Amino acid sequence: TYVVTDACIKCKYTDCVDVCPVDCFHEGPNFLAIDPEECIDCSLCVAECPISAIYAEDDLPKGQENFLALNAELAKNWPVITEKIDPLPDHADWAEVKDKLQYLER
Ligand code: SF4
Ligand code: F3S
Repeated sequence: TYVVTDACIKCKYTDCVDVCPVDCFHEGPNFLAIDPEECIDCSLCVAECPISAIYAEDDLPKGQENFLALNAELAKNWPVITEKIDPLPDHADWAEVKDKLQYLER
């Protein structure tokens, strides 16, 4: 499966959802999660994210391995999103910020 990681938090550009052939993105207040049971590993979403927040599960950045389980958990609770929407209002201020897990809203 592919995994949405830390960079997405508080940005949520949603370009990724437009290209997913199996609609496996789920939307929370300030983050998206991929359902690992639906993702077919096509990798199309990776290039769409303007801040490179999506990785293959075997290629997760050091320290972000926990996002694999987090995506699986959150995808269960959040509704599917299939069309791009506006990014969060403060996206530009947060795009370069690291370690945003503390700001994740469920
Ligand atoms: Fe969807 Fe493909 Fe990305 Fe998986 S890798 S989330 S199937 S676009
Ligand atoms: Fe997040 Fe990037 Fe998609 S910021 S919503 S993973 S386009």
